[in-house]
Amino acid sequence: MKGIILAGGLGSRLFPITISVSKQLLPVYDKPMIYYPMTTLISVGIRDILIICNPRDIELFKYLLGDGSQYGCDFQYATQSNPNGIADAFIIGSDFIGNDQVALILGDNIFYFPSISDRLNLNTNFSGAQIFAYHVSDPSRYGVVEFDENNCVISIEEKPELPKSNFAIPGLYFFDQIVVDYAKDLKPSHRGELEITDLLQIYLEKENLNVMKMDKGTAWLDTGTFSSLMEASQFVNVLEKRQGLKVGCIEEVVYRKGYISKAQLLELAKKYSSSGYGKYLISLMNE
Ligand code: G1P
Repeated sequence: MKGIILAGGLGSRLFPITISVSKQLLPVYDKPMIYYPMTTLISVGIRDILIICNPRDIELFKYLLGDGSQYGCDFQYATQSNPNGIADAFIIGSDFIGNDQVALILGDNIFYFPSISDRLNLNTNFSGAQIFAYHVSDPSRYGVVEFDENNCVISIEEKPELPKSNFAIPGLYFFDQIVVDYAKDLKPSHRGELEITDLLQIYLEKENLNVMKMDKGTAWLDTGTFSSLMEASQFVNVLEKRQGLKVGCIEEVVYRKGYISKAQLLELAKKYSSSGYGKYLISLMNE
Protein backbone atom coordinates (compact mmCIF):
# COMPACT_ATOMS: atom_id res chain seq x y z
CA MET A 1 0.00 0.00 0.00
CA LYS A 2 1.17 3.51 -0.87
CA GLY A 3 0.72 6.55 1.34
CA ILE A 4 0.09 10.21 0.62
CA ILE A 5 0.52 13.07 3.06
CA LEU A 6 -1.35 16.14 1.91
CA ALA A 7 0.53 19.11 3.29
CA GLY A 8 -0.68 21.86 0.97
CA GLY A 9 -2.93 24.82 1.62
CA LEU A 10 -2.17 28.35 2.74
CA GLY A 11 -2.84 27.81 6.43
CA SER A 12 -4.67 31.13 6.31
CA ARG A 13 -6.52 30.45 9.56
CA LEU A 14 -3.11 30.67 11.25
CA PHE A 15 -1.88 33.89 9.58
CA PRO A 16 0.58 35.50 10.30
CA ILE A 17 2.31 32.35 11.63
CA THR A 18 1.99 30.61 8.28
CA ILE A 19 2.76 33.53 5.96
CA SER A 20 6.32 32.40 5.36
CA VAL A 21 6.28 28.78 6.48
CA SER A 22 4.03 25.83 5.80
CA LYS A 23 1.62 24.97 8.58
CA GLN A 24 2.75 21.34 8.49
CA LEU A 25 6.31 22.40 9.36
CA LEU A 26 5.28 24.26 12.49
CA PRO A 27 6.30 22.66 15.77
CA VAL A 28 3.87 20.55 17.73
CA TYR A 29 5.76 20.46 21.00
CA ASP A 30 9.13 18.86 20.14
CA LYS A 31 8.87 18.01 16.47
CA PRO A 32 7.50 19.38 13.19
CA MET A 33 3.80 18.71 12.67
CA ILE A 34 4.37 16.45 9.66
CA TYR A 35 6.23 13.92 11.85
CA TYR A 36 2.90 12.88 13.37
CA PRO A 37 1.02 11.90 10.18
CA MET A 38 4.25 10.40 8.84
CA THR A 39 4.52 8.21 11.92
CA THR A 40 0.88 7.17 11.62
CA LEU A 41 1.42 5.93 8.05
CA ILE A 42 4.65 4.13 8.90
CA SER A 43 2.98 2.53 11.95
CA VAL A 44 0.56 0.73 9.68
CA GLY A 45 3.43 -0.50 7.54
CA ILE A 46 3.38 2.05 4.72
CA ARG A 47 6.88 2.91 3.50
CA ASP A 48 6.26 4.41 0.04
CA ILE A 49 5.05 7.90 0.78
CA LEU A 50 4.26 10.88 -1.44
CA ILE A 51 4.33 14.29 0.21
CA ILE A 52 2.18 16.87 -1.55
CA CYS A 53 2.87 20.48 -0.62
CA ASN A 54 2.85 24.02 -1.97
CA PRO A 55 5.47 24.76 -4.63
CA ARG A 56 6.91 27.37 -2.23
CA ASP A 57 7.62 24.82 0.51
CA ILE A 58 8.87 21.78 -1.40
CA GLU A 59 12.57 22.45 -0.74
CA LEU A 60 11.94 22.81 3.00
CA PHE A 61 10.10 19.50 3.15
CA LYS A 62 12.88 17.82 1.17
CA TYR A 63 15.47 19.34 3.48
CA LEU A 64 13.64 18.01 6.51
CA LEU A 65 12.68 14.54 5.31
CA GLY A 66 14.96 13.73 2.37
CA ASP A 67 14.31 10.69 0.23
CA GLY A 68 13.31 8.57 3.22
CA SER A 69 16.20 6.12 2.82
CA GLN A 70 17.56 7.13 6.24
CA TYR A 71 14.32 5.66 7.64
CA GLY A 72 14.27 2.59 5.39
CA CYS A 73 11.43 4.26 3.46
CA ASP A 74 10.92 5.92 0.10
CA PHE A 75 9.64 9.51 0.07
CA GLN A 76 8.61 11.33 -3.06
CA TYR A 77 7.35 14.87 -3.51
CA ALA A 78 4.73 16.60 -5.61
CA THR A 79 3.15 20.04 -5.52
CA GLN A 80 -0.39 21.34 -5.42
CA SER A 81 -0.42 24.88 -6.82
CA ASN A 82 -4.08 25.69 -6.28
CA PRO A 83 -6.40 24.80 -3.40
CA ASN A 84 -8.37 22.29 -5.47
CA GLY A 85 -9.42 20.15 -2.54
CA ILE A 86 -8.37 17.00 -0.75
CA ALA A 87 -9.54 14.59 -3.44
CA ASP A 88 -7.18 16.35 -5.89
CA ALA A 89 -4.37 14.46 -4.09
CA PHE A 90 -5.39 11.30 -5.97
CA ILE A 91 -5.13 13.06 -9.33
CA ILE A 92 -1.76 14.63 -8.46
CA GLY A 93 -0.61 11.27 -7.11
CA SER A 94 -2.10 9.05 -9.82
CA ASP A 95 1.25 7.93 -11.28
CA PHE A 96 2.65 7.36 -7.82
CA ILE A 97 -0.38 5.25 -6.82
CA GLY A 98 -0.28 3.20 -10.01
CA ASN A 99 -2.17 -0.02 -9.36
CA ASP A 100 -1.80 -0.03 -5.60
CA GLN A 101 -4.06 0.69 -2.69
CA VAL A 102 -3.47 4.01 -1.04
CA ALA A 103 -3.77 5.68 2.32
CA LEU A 104 -4.23 9.43 2.49
CA ILE A 105 -3.52 11.39 5.62
CA LEU A 106 -3.88 15.13 6.06
CA GLY A 107 -0.60 16.71 7.12
CA ASP A 108 -2.23 18.61 9.97
CA ASN A 109 -4.07 15.67 11.54
CA ILE A 110 -2.50 14.25 14.67
CA PHE A 111 -3.54 10.85 15.91
CA TYR A 112 -2.70 9.14 19.14
CA PHE A 113 -3.98 5.75 18.19
CA PRO A 114 -1.78 3.19 19.95
CA SER A 115 -3.53 0.12 18.55
CA ILE A 116 -4.04 1.29 14.98
CA SER A 117 -2.12 -1.53 13.32
CA ASP A 118 -3.95 -4.17 15.41
CA ARG A 119 -7.36 -2.75 14.60
CA LEU A 120 -6.82 -2.23 10.91
CA ASN A 121 -6.88 -5.35 8.88
CA LEU A 122 -5.71 -4.11 5.52
CA ASN A 123 -4.81 -7.24 3.64
CA THR A 124 -3.83 -7.40 0.01
CA ASN A 125 -7.40 -8.16 -1.00
CA PHE A 126 -8.67 -5.01 0.65
CA SER A 127 -11.29 -3.36 -1.52
CA GLY A 128 -13.43 -0.30 -1.11
CA ALA A 129 -12.75 2.52 1.31
CA GLN A 130 -11.89 2.39 4.99
CA ILE A 131 -12.40 5.50 7.08
CA PHE A 132 -12.95 6.41 10.73
CA ALA A 133 -15.52 8.21 12.81
CA TYR A 134 -14.61 10.19 15.89
CA HIS A 135 -17.06 11.67 18.37
CA VAL A 136 -16.57 15.44 18.66
CA SER A 137 -18.41 18.29 20.31
CA ASP A 138 -18.27 20.55 17.23
CA PRO A 139 -19.06 18.34 14.19
CA SER A 140 -19.98 21.17 11.82
CA ARG A 141 -16.27 21.93 11.33
CA TYR A 142 -15.74 18.54 9.69
CA GLY A 143 -17.07 15.89 7.35
CA VAL A 144 -19.88 14.23 9.32
CA VAL A 145 -21.07 10.64 9.15
CA GLU A 146 -24.50 9.52 10.29
CA PHE A 147 -25.27 5.95 11.44
CA ASP A 148 -28.53 4.08 11.84
CA GLU A 149 -29.36 1.95 14.89
CA ASN A 150 -27.42 -0.98 13.38
CA ASN A 151 -24.30 1.14 12.99
CA CYS A 152 -24.73 1.28 9.22
CA VAL A 153 -23.79 4.54 7.53
CA ILE A 154 -26.78 6.52 6.26
CA SER A 155 -25.24 9.79 5.19
CA ILE A 156 -22.03 11.75 4.78
CA GLU A 157 -21.96 15.52 4.67
CA GLU A 158 -19.16 18.08 4.45
CA LYS A 159 -19.28 20.73 7.19
CA PRO A 160 -23.07 20.70 7.60
CA GLU A 161 -24.70 23.62 9.37
CA LEU A 162 -27.02 21.21 11.13
CA PRO A 163 -24.99 18.03 11.65
CA LYS A 164 -26.99 14.81 11.79
CA SER A 165 -24.55 13.28 14.27
CA ASN A 166 -21.52 14.08 16.42
CA PHE A 167 -19.28 11.77 14.43
CA ALA A 168 -16.61 13.61 12.46
CA ILE A 169 -14.50 11.97 9.77
CA PRO A 170 -10.81 12.35 10.63
CA GLY A 171 -8.28 12.99 7.90
CA LEU A 172 -7.06 9.42 7.49
CA TYR A 173 -8.52 7.43 4.62
CA PHE A 174 -7.69 4.09 2.99
CA PHE A 175 -8.77 3.35 -0.57
CA ASP A 176 -8.49 0.71 -3.20
CA GLN A 177 -6.93 1.61 -6.56
CA ILE A 178 -10.22 2.69 -8.17
CA VAL A 179 -10.07 5.89 -6.15
CA VAL A 180 -8.02 7.58 -8.86
CA ASP A 181 -10.76 7.05 -11.47
CA TYR A 182 -13.45 8.21 -9.07
CA ALA A 183 -11.43 11.33 -8.21
CA LYS A 184 -10.99 12.19 -11.88
CA ASP A 185 -14.78 12.12 -12.33
CA LEU A 186 -15.55 14.41 -9.40
CA LYS A 187 -17.00 17.86 -9.98
CA PRO A 188 -15.87 20.80 -7.83
CA SER A 189 -18.22 21.67 -4.96
CA HIS A 190 -19.80 25.11 -4.46
CA ARG A 191 -16.52 26.19 -2.81
CA GLY A 192 -14.60 25.09 -5.91
CA GLU A 193 -12.94 22.03 -4.37
CA LEU A 194 -12.89 18.32 -5.10
CA GLU A 195 -14.32 17.21 -1.80
CA ILE A 196 -13.16 14.08 -0.03
CA THR A 197 -16.72 13.59 1.22
CA ASP A 198 -18.00 13.44 -2.40
CA LEU A 199 -15.51 10.67 -3.02
CA LEU A 200 -16.68 8.83 0.10
CA GLN A 201 -20.26 9.29 -1.10
CA ILE A 202 -19.42 7.28 -4.24
CA TYR A 203 -18.09 4.41 -2.11
CA LEU A 204 -21.17 4.65 0.12
CA GLU A 205 -23.51 4.40 -2.85
CA LYS A 206 -21.58 1.36 -4.09
CA GLU A 207 -21.88 -0.15 -0.61
CA ASN A 208 -18.13 -0.29 -0.40
CA LEU A 209 -17.50 2.08 2.47
CA ASN A 210 -16.35 0.77 5.82
CA VAL A 211 -16.43 3.17 8.76
CA MET A 212 -14.72 2.25 12.03
CA LYS A 213 -15.56 4.20 15.15
CA MET A 214 -12.39 5.21 16.94
CA ASP A 215 -12.10 4.05 20.55
CA LYS A 216 -12.61 6.49 23.37
CA GLY A 217 -8.92 6.13 24.22
CA THR A 218 -7.87 7.47 20.84
CA ALA A 219 -6.94 11.08 20.42
CA TRP A 220 -7.51 12.88 17.16
CA LEU A 221 -6.22 16.38 17.45
CA ASP A 222 -6.92 19.33 15.30
CA THR A 223 -4.36 22.03 14.59
CA GLY A 224 -6.57 24.40 12.64
CA THR A 225 -6.75 27.28 15.11
CA PHE A 226 -4.28 29.04 17.38
CA SER A 227 -5.80 27.37 20.43
CA SER A 228 -6.01 23.88 18.98
CA LEU A 229 -2.41 24.14 17.76
CA MET A 230 -1.27 25.01 21.27
CA GLU A 231 -3.48 22.32 22.81
CA ALA A 232 -1.95 19.72 20.51
CA SER A 233 1.50 20.73 21.77
CA GLN A 234 0.29 20.56 25.36
CA PHE A 235 -1.24 17.13 24.80
CA VAL A 236 2.02 15.74 23.41
CA ASN A 237 4.01 17.43 26.16
CA VAL A 238 1.87 15.99 28.97
CA LEU A 239 1.86 12.49 27.50
CA GLU A 240 5.60 12.41 26.77
CA LYS A 241 6.54 13.83 30.15
CA ARG A 242 4.34 11.40 32.05
CA GLN A 243 5.31 8.28 30.11
CA GLY A 244 8.86 9.09 29.16
CA LEU A 245 7.92 7.91 25.68
CA LYS A 246 7.59 9.95 22.53
CA VAL A 247 4.59 10.32 20.26
CA GLY A 248 5.20 10.86 16.55
CA CYS A 249 8.87 9.87 16.64
CA ILE A 250 9.66 8.62 13.12
CA GLU A 251 13.06 7.22 14.09
CA GLU A 252 11.58 5.16 16.91
CA VAL A 253 8.84 3.67 14.77
CA VAL A 254 11.16 2.67 11.92
CA TYR A 255 13.64 1.20 14.41
CA ARG A 256 10.97 -0.83 16.21
CA LYS A 257 9.61 -2.03 12.90
CA GLY A 258 13.08 -3.20 11.90
CA TYR A 259 13.33 -0.85 8.91
CA ILE A 260 16.62 0.49 10.25
CA SER A 261 19.39 -1.10 12.29
CA LYS A 262 20.81 0.04 15.62
CA ALA A 263 23.80 1.51 13.79
CA GLN A 264 21.50 3.53 11.53
CA LEU A 265 19.53 4.75 14.54
CA LEU A 266 22.79 5.89 16.11
CA GLU A 267 23.62 7.86 12.96
CA LEU A 268 20.25 9.60 13.13
CA ALA A 269 20.57 10.24 16.87
CA LYS A 270 23.99 11.89 16.41
CA LYS A 271 22.37 14.61 14.29
CA TYR A 272 20.28 15.69 17.27
CA SER A 273 22.75 14.98 20.02
CA SER A 274 22.30 18.37 21.65
CA SER A 275 18.50 18.09 21.98
CA GLY A 276 16.36 15.93 24.23
CA TYR A 277 15.04 14.31 21.07
CA GLY A 278 18.50 12.94 20.26
CA LYS A 279 18.97 11.74 23.82
CA TYR A 280 15.68 9.89 23.59
CA LEU A 281 16.89 8.12 20.42
CA ILE A 282 20.09 7.11 22.20
CA SER A 283 18.04 5.75 25.11
CA LEU A 284 16.14 3.47 22.70
CA MET A 285 19.36 1.70 21.84
CA ASN A 286 19.98 0.83 25.46
CA GLU A 287 16.63 -0.82 26.05
C1 G1P B 1 -11.09 18.35 5.84
C2 G1P B 1 -12.21 17.49 5.23
C3 G1P B 1 -13.20 17.04 6.29
C4 G1P B 1 -12.46 16.33 7.41
C5 G1P B 1 -11.34 17.22 7.95
C6 G1P B 1 -10.46 16.48 8.94
O1 G1P B 1 -11.58 19.58 6.26
O2 G1P B 1 -12.83 18.26 4.19
O3 G1P B 1 -14.14 16.17 5.72
O4 G1P B 1 -13.36 15.99 8.42
O5 G1P B 1 -10.47 17.66 6.90
O6 G1P B 1 -9.45 17.29 9.45
P1 G1P B 1 -10.58 20.84 6.41
O7 G1P B 1 -9.80 20.61 7.65
O8 G1P B 1 -9.72 20.86 5.21
O9 G1P B 1 -11.47 22.03 6.52
